[in-house]
Amino acid sequence: MSHQPTANSQRPTAKILVTGGAGFIGSNLVETLLEMESISIVRVLDNLATGHLNNIESFRQHPKFEFLEGDIRDFDTCKRACEGMDFVSHQAALSSVPRSIKDPITTNEVNIGGTLNMFLAAKEARIKKLVYAASSSTYGDSPYLPKREDVTGKPLSPYAVTKLVSELYADVFARLYEVDFIGLRYFNIFGPRQDPNGAYAAVIPLFMKAVLENTPPTINGDGNHSRDFTYVENAVQANIKAMFSKRKEASNEVYNIANGEQTTLLELFNILKELSNSELAPIFGPERPGDVKHSLADISKAMNYLGYEPKVKIREGLEKAFQWYKENQTYISTQALRKTQHKGLQNLRLNNKT
Ligand SMILES: NC(=O)c1ccc[n+]([C@@H]2O[C@H](COP(=O)([O-])OP(=O)(O)OC[C@H]3O[C@@H](n4cnc5c(N)ncnc54)[C@H](O)[C@@H]3O)[C@@H](O)[C@H]2O)c1
Repeated sequence: MSHQPTANSQRPTAKILVTGGAGFIGSNLVETLLEMESISIVRVLDNLATGHLNNIESFRQHPKFEFLEGDIRDFDTCKRACEGMDFVSHQAALSSVPRSIKDPITTNEVNIGGTLNMFLAAKEARIKKLVYAASSSTYGDSPYLPKREDVTGKPLSPYAVTKLVSELYADVFARLYEVDFIGLRYFNIFGPRQDPNGAYAAVIPLFMKAVLENTPPTINGDGNHSRDFTYVENAVQANIKAMFSKRKEASNEVYNIANGEQTTLLELFNILKELSNSELAPIFGPERPGDVKHSLADISKAMNYLGYEPKVKIREGLEKAFQWYKENQTYISTQALRKTQHKGLQNLRLNNKT
């Protein structure tokens, strides 16, 4: 897929900061940004809380790539990360609903405190545009389907509160200061490098791991919960289109970034069984608090304003992701180990310069 901007859509030497670039979505975005001729620097700021050096290993020798290990909860780190940058893609967050229920304080500190730091640092550095990761969890208890950007409900988890507050801060900053913001409400993104390990792993990487290890996965609830599962390439495309859009009216808005199709967990698991020739049957567990029952996005706003088009549909996305997990089983199983080895390295460092 080509993401090269058209002749007038972008300065020829854009420098981009990606927070959370060692994570799942961030590292997929970084990979594509590094391929774009019109971009001269891709800097990652990440504290490796849930991201992994594994995810950025293949970029570390790339001449355009910089890695700043640091925490968005520290304002000076955010300022340093924004120095000399033109654009910011803010992906860093603690991104799990159950984690936020267990530890709302840390989720709040990172997702609200850290996001506010990044917004302020971007404003002070006169960043041209900041595109940030919002979330479908903002729809909360709203019963309406498909979800439209202007009809939200009450948040159902501390995580959802933090994502809503990020949107509110973006809105206020856009009104008060001269920074363009775009929020992308992701709906269940999946694909290569999504972490299948740990207590807070998402459902698709958990299913992939279960099938590859031939151990039955647990489905929370009866399997009829549905989601708008979206392949990561579509999310990357949305980020790039949002970042380089020249349409003034497209800025300071939030957009649903999804596939536009509803799939139940059971349907999802059945596709995966077919792809892997597996005979596994899932185990059904209790529903998780904070989870919504159904989710489906209306993506017309992103299509109309950003030219977003989800090119990879669910089945093709699952095929690609499954292929990746199959080919990278060692990579996945060593992630936890590498993370332990890395513990204790707290100093900020730019990889090319140490
Ligand atoms: N994956 C999805 O389906 C989904 C859905 C909705 C929203 N989002 C949002 O998209 C963004 C990326 O999510 P992801 O799925 O790639 O998760 P991820 O956990 O793989 O990536 C998040 C990255 O942020 C980094 N990070 C966390 N705390 C940090 C801190 N204090 N300072 C610096 N870096 C920090 C992590 O180390 C990690 O690399 C998040 O903002 C998340 O809330 C994701």
